Parts: sequence; structure tokens; C-alpha cells
Amino acid sequence: SFDAKVGRAGTEQWSSRMVYVLAMTGSAVGLGNIWRFPYIMGEHGGGAFVLVYLLCIGLIGLPVLMSEALVGKFGRRSPAKSVAAIAQASGSNRGWSVVGTTGSIAGFLILSFYVVIAGWAVAYTWFGFSGQFTGKDAEQIGELFGGLLASPSSLMVVSLVMIAGITFVVSRGIRAGLEAAVSKMMPLLFVLLSVLVVYAAVTGEFGQAVQFMFAPDFSKLTWTSVLVALGHSFFTLSLASGIVIMYGAYLPEGTSIARTSVQIALLDTVVALLAGLAIFPIVFANGLEPGAGPGLLFHSLPIAFGSMPMGQIVGGLFFLMVVVAAFTSGISLIESTVVRFCEITGLSRINSAMIVATTLGLMSLLTVYSFAGADWASPEWLGMSYFDAIDQLTEKVMLPLGGLAIAVFTGWFVSREISLKLLNGNALIHALWLFCVQFLAPAAIVVVFLQSVGVLRF
Ligand code: PHE
Ligand code: NA
Repeated sequence: SFDAKVGRAGTEQWSSRMVYVLAMTGSAVGLGNIWRFPYIMGEHGGGAFVLVYLLCIGLIGLPVLMSEALVGKFGRRSPAKSVAAIAQASGSNRGWSVVGTTGSIAGFLILSFYVVIAGWAVAYTWFGFSGQFTGKDAEQIGELFGGLLASPSSLMVVSLVMIAGITFVVSRGIRAGLEAAVSKMMPLLFVLLSVLVVYAAVTGEFGQAVQFMFAPDFSKLTWTSVLVALGHSFFTLSLASGIVIMYGAYLPEGTSIARTSVQIALLDTVVALLAGLAIFPIVFANGLEPGAGPGLLFHSLPIAFGSMPMGQIVGGLFFLMVVVAAFTSGISLIESTVVRFCEITGLSRINSAMIVATTLGLMSLLTVYSFAGADWASPEWLGMSYFDAIDQLTEKVMLPLGGLAIAVFTGWFVSREISLKLLNGNALIHALWLFCVQFLAPAAIVVVFLQSVGVLRF
């Protein structure tokens, strides 16, 4: 496994290209697809937002995904050290390694709310299997959710389940458990989502949902929406958080970075769109508010589970899958922080994992109490809750700027000879990629960022 003391991945590699795609998909597919994408799409008016999001994935997210993978493949070390290594080999400044460090910090901040939302899914798995959705209407499901949020102690328990789980896996090294979990659970999630889409199509307002998601109404689009779509395209592909560099370090020789990156981005996008198609027909059929915010998933689908045949099993199973999807993402998020912490402090992997987990537990209280509506968790000076602040700081600032730095670095400061070789010498793909990371992505990110910065409430 990764030797953090030496800071080198050594000769170990994923057992196959397939395993790399699975592990990266495990990291990419998570709450971002099933929980976050539908609710931000709802908040930002649907179709036009989806279109911008898809453009961001294809023209910015995908090239940056390739950039990160090639840095990892070259360096075969932790994110910061891989960046330093490829910079040095290209005759550029090793100080670029700071991109790896700030990425890990963003990952840690994301993780502090990620474990809490995953905790909701843990609670909902229990609700589902124990039949608590059965026969409930929209209002009663809303009360169930409200009751959960109002109980910080239960939320702390379920969040701790997540924290303990990912810490356990990471402190042991990630290979065996992760590969096995991902290769069995991800296909199942896919099947269940498809079943739900069919169910939603038959029983819900499917036409209205398709209209909402795919008929763009540009009057609803603001620069803030565009920034949110951009930030989310990084979030959903696990970019700018050191993860792809980390996982790319184990790439087998000869693997096509372009091909695997396309596969990962496609799978991630399909899951996100399926989640939308499962959720919005139910939202519209039950008169729920599409812009309801972070509670959307937890308000909508349980209504379907409550009235469908075998809903108790399907509902429990569905939220269990959400937990697994969040778990494999959570592992990748904490891994990058733990490895960096080992490097900086020189502590062992287990001790580092314990310290990071304890800090994480304390940080997650900010999110727990934000949703519980505690006064102290929405301080006057901040003008918003801690959850909103962490969410906005990461998605609107750290991920877009981190992605910008990676694009500029690999586009302008990594030698073209090296990047061409890492892309298996494919000149056409290299040229397309280079155009995106040199010009398109930096220009788009800068414009979107500056246009919306006035709207940022910091
Ligand atoms: N990509 C994950 C998701 O969509 C979240 C994530 C972000 C994971 C950043 C790792 C790094 O849920
Ligand atoms: Na994702």
C-alpha cells in the first residue's frame, strides 16, 4: 500500500484498468450525484442549469480530470509530491505543490458536511427497513425528516458511524475492502436507480420532470447559477481535492488516461441524471417545491417507497446504496487528508487517521447544528449557517480556483513532451486536451468567477 513515510506509491498498481475505473467511479459517484445535483438543479431552475453543467463536465471537468490523472501517473507519490515531481522534471517551480495541499484542505472541509449528510442516509436506511415510510404522505415524510434534523444527538451518532467506518478502512490501507465494496455495490446502485426511474415514470409526473430538466429556460440562469454548476462539476468528479492525483498514482502502465477519464465522467453523469429523473416526477406529483434545498432527496423518494409494493425493502435498500456510494467517496476524501498529514507530521498512518477523524468529528458538529437550527451555528457576522459557509467556500471558491490552478499548471508549466507521453503519444487527444487546459478552462473559470464574485456573500 501507499508508504506515507517515504511518500511514494512504490511499484504497487491497481490490479487492472477496470479496478482503477471502479475506484475512481466509487469516489466520483456519491452524494454529489444523488443528493446535491438534484437539489441545486431545483434551486437554479432546471434545464438551463443542467445544460451548463453538462458543458462544464465535458469542456472543463473532463480535461482537468485528465490533467490530475497524468500528474499522478507521472509522480506516483502523494498529490503534493507528484505535482512537485512533474514540475521539477519540466523545469518549473516545485512550489506548485501547494495545489496539492490546498486540495486536501478543500477535501477535508467537504468531508465535514459529507459525513453528516451520509449520516442522514444511514438513518433513512433504518427508517426504510423498519417500515417507517409505509403509507406516509408528503407532509408526514416531511415531519420524519424534520424530526431527524431536530435531534443533534441522533445525528451525531449516525455521523460517527460514517466517520468510524471510513477511518477504519483508511487506517488499514484502502485496497482490499474498497475494491470489493465498489465492484459489488455500484452496479446494484445503478440497477436500483433505474428501477426507481421506471417507477417514477409510471406513477409520477414524468413528462413535467423531463421538461424541467431538459427544456432550458435561460431567463432563470444567473452568473451565480453558472458558478454553482462549474463548482459542482468539479465536486462531482472529485477534482481539485488531490484524489485523482492520488488514485492516478497507481495507474498501470499503458492505461489510456483519456479513455478511462471519459468512462468515469460518463458514469458519473448518467447516475446524476438518473437521480434527477427518479426524484423530480415524485416532487411534481406531490406538489413539493423543486427548490426546497438540501432536504429534497429525503422529502421526495420516501413518498414513493411508502406506497410502492415491497417499498419497505426497496426503500431500505436504496438508502443503503446511498450510504455505500457516500462511503466510497468518503474514503477517498479522508485518504488524501490523512496521507498529507502523515507527510507533514511524520506520524504513522494509524495515528494520523485518528487525529484527522477526531478533528473531523468536531468539525461535523458545525453542520449538525446548522441543520438543527441552533443560533450559534448561524452567527450574525457570517450572515449564514456554518454549513452554508463551508458549502459555498468549497464549491464556489476552492474547487473552481483549485481546478484553475491545475489547468494552468499542466497546460503551461508541464513540458509538452511529458504530457504527450503520458497520454500515450496520441497527438490528437493531446492537442484537444491542451487547448482545453491552456485556454478554454482557464478563461471560462476566470470569467465565471469574476462575474459572480460580486454576488458572493463573504
Ligand atoms: N465526487 C463525490 C460526489 O459526487 C464527492 C467528492 C468530492 C469526493 C471531492 C471526493 C472529492 O459525491
Ligand atoms: Na459525483
